[in-house]
Amino acid sequence: MHTSSHALARLLGDWSAGPGPAHRRLADLIRLLILDGRLPLATTMPGERDLAAVLGISRTTVSTAYAALREQGYLSARARSRSRTRVPPGGSRPEPDTTGRDLIDLSHAAPPAPGEALHRAYLRALDQLPRHLPRHGYSQLGLTELRTAVARRYADRGLATTPDQILITSGAQHALGLIARTLLRPRDRVVVDHPTYPHALQVLRTAGCRIVPVAVTDTGWDVESLSAATRGAAMAYLLPDFHNPTGLCLPERDRAELRPGCPVVVDETMAELALDVDPPVPLAAHHTGVVSIGSAAKTFWGGLRVGWIRADVDLVQRLGQARAGIDLGTPVVEQLACAELLGEIDRLLPDRLADLRQRRGLLLGLLAARLRDWTAGPSAGGLSVWARLPQPVSSALAAVAPEFGVRLAAGPRFGIGGAFERFVRLPYSLDAAAMTAGIDGIAEAFAAVQAGRRANTPPAALA
Ligand SMILES: Cc1ncc(COP(=O)(O)O)c(C=O)c1O
Repeated sequence: MHTSSHALARLLGDWSAGPGPAHRRLADLIRLLILDGRLPLATTMPGERDLAAVLGISRTTVSTAYAALREQGYLSARARSRSRTRVPPGGSRPEPDTTGRDLIDLSHAAPPAPGEALHRAYLRALDQLPRHLPRHGYSQLGLTELRTAVARRYADRGLATTPDQILITSGAQHALGLIARTLLRPRDRVVVDHPTYPHALQVLRTAGCRIVPVAVTDTGWDVESLSAATRGAAMAYLLPDFHNPTGLCLPERDRAELRPGCPVVVDETMAELALDVDPPVPLAAHHTGVVSIGSAAKTFWGGLRVGWIRADVDLVQRLGQARAGIDLGTPVVEQLACAELLGEIDRLLPDRLADLRQRRGLLLGLLAARLRDWTAGPSAGGLSVWARLPQPVSSALAAVAPEFGVRLAAGPRFGIGGAFERFVRLPYSLDAAAMTAGIDGIAEAFAAVQAGRRANTPPAALA
């Protein structure tokens, strides 16, 4: 893969502002792009002269930045050939900070498992396992027990669904990958919320799609603009149910008023985490042809690796067949455990939501006390707040944060073209001690960035 100077310039966004020498800033940001996956591994970098011309800087600045990245192991160093991106051995592992402490991971928005309930669900799953052992164990579309439980949950949420409309996957990410692989072609236009979930952008980039961003702001979605953008597109990938990263929820009226001009894929991974509003009725209840993606990851636990697709029966069959090109089914015990958990969801959810409300309250309190000039955007649920910084230094902050014991996801990961340098996603899924130490670390890192500090050590990769 090759990246052009113009494409790299778009990814770098407004990189030139800020303290420190330009070659350091350029090297820091290119390294962050590599670690974030926004510059894929083995990408051939633009030539120094060309990049310098496009960025409007001297060739020496670019060659000094490239030389530093080669020395740190982020660019290959073969004579007479273009540099290619790489990660040094150990560079993609979570790294302890300089004092040997493990970093506090604020780069994931994923809650811990409800331990007791999960344990119980696995015990019951093991009790049922003997029934499945005489058969081969490959479930291309998923076990009937789980497809039935997922369909029932859709019906409870206000969308009549039959089990044959459900395909079980190994998580929502797998579901999106399968949909992209089956329904999208290179150069297809795909409309996305902006900001959006970074790993979805990764899927769409890998599929070679042209990504069309539609803004999600503090006031949510502009349904008219969104409808207009979908006209003639190949697909829209939307997060109306406690949007990641903002936590916003598309109101009922807007759901009805949306006029999709292309097939819509709705990622409902956060849909059960309604903290301040009534649980939304799925978008698919308002419009035919909407494909819904769901997951057990946030409602129960990411380690289950269970998700699903709800679509019409023909598409479910088609996706099920296409699946063989990726994998041959989701593990049986995890599916049985997930069906058990879904059977208990009405009993489990209230405690889960109460716990998340408390964690969010703590995070907002810490923010108000330690980072007074940051503002937390409005949210209605989910697992994170989208915090606005007083200066556009999100990437610089994420780059120095590991030196202060914290891993952070920089705002531009959630967008395209280097947008969102003024934002950071802050999850409230950690426990009180970790969140307190995490916000303390961010406050120190932020003060250091404001005082002109650049990253001394490369930041750890963000998963
Ligand atoms: C919006 C969204 N979609 C998909 C995923 C991936 O879910 P899974 O763990 O089920 O693959 C996540 C996880 O963070 C997410 O937030």
